[in-house]
Amino acid sequence: MENKPHKIDESIRCNLNLGVLTRRGFIAATTATLASCKAVSPLNPENVGKQTNTNYRTPYASGSVPRNNIGNPSSNFPSSAGVTFSRVLVSGNYIAITFDDGPHPQNTPRLLDILAVRNVKATFYVIGRSVDLHPGVLRRTVAEGHEIGNHSHTHRLLSKLSSSEVRQEMQRCQEAVGRAAGVGMRTMRPPYGGLLQSQRELVHSEFGYPTILWSVDPLDWKRPGPSVVTSRILAATTAGGIVLAHDLHSQTVDAMPATLDGLLRKGYNFVTVSQLIAMKIETPGAQASLTPTN
Ligand code: NI
Repeated sequence: MENKPHKIDESIRCNLNLGVLTRRGFIAATTATLASCKAVSPLNPENVGKQTNTNYRTPYASGSVPRNNIGNPSSNFPSSAGVTFSRVLVSGNYIAITFDDGPHPQNTPRLLDILAVRNVKATFYVIGRSVDLHPGVLRRTVAEGHEIGNHSHTHRLLSKLSSSEVRQEMQRCQEAVGRAAGVGMRTMRPPYGGLLQSQRELVHSEFGYPTILWSVDPLDWKRPGPSVVTSRILAATTAGGIVLAHDLHSQTVDAMPATLDGLLRKGYNFVTVSQLIAMKIETPGAQASLTPTN
């Protein structure tokens, strides 16, 4: 999700044949420059599921890294928990970090390496069409204990779409994730954060998805540099928070070792979005101030 138009990096752009997302969220029908992405084309069936991580060195920390120590809390939450969350009122220093717009054939595996070393479980809001291109990356993500959320099939601005089109965007992403990794999803995040209240209620009632926004936005899609991404997240994160980031961008992944280590050293424990919602404290009146409804 990005609340401003994002430029898709060249590898994804040619892989998806998406062109550039414009300010209004339209997909400009530009012809992708396939010639620039001939290295490993996931469009070739022989390469599906075989994306490797050869271009890239995981930035290992020197010395020991802090470990997330959380066990395996329940991810079951009742449908009455809420229709929209930008954070969750919890007892304890629990937070959820989320990564949108993947899977990406290089950046997502690199991120998974960084998360695994620290035992951090994250939530990935994936684009169905990218799942179809990189099913092996999704399977690895699921196998390593991360949660998958629905970020639509084609990353259109859903608030401009009809109910049947929204339904189709949710359904097609759900099917892609099911095909690739055999799992379902419990929550959704709308591309650009754009979803009308009536649409939120539709996806909640028909798919069981609460709409997940965020409380921490480092604007990483503007590529301000890894150290800025890290400092923004460390400054803004509080207990119960939901951190927005994008595994589409290499700078974001570059920022994660210092970001995760900084949050762990501050005493935060990472859980997935569903686990965070399942921890919600029922306090009369609290929810209204914590969850925007428009
Ligand atoms: Ni997005």
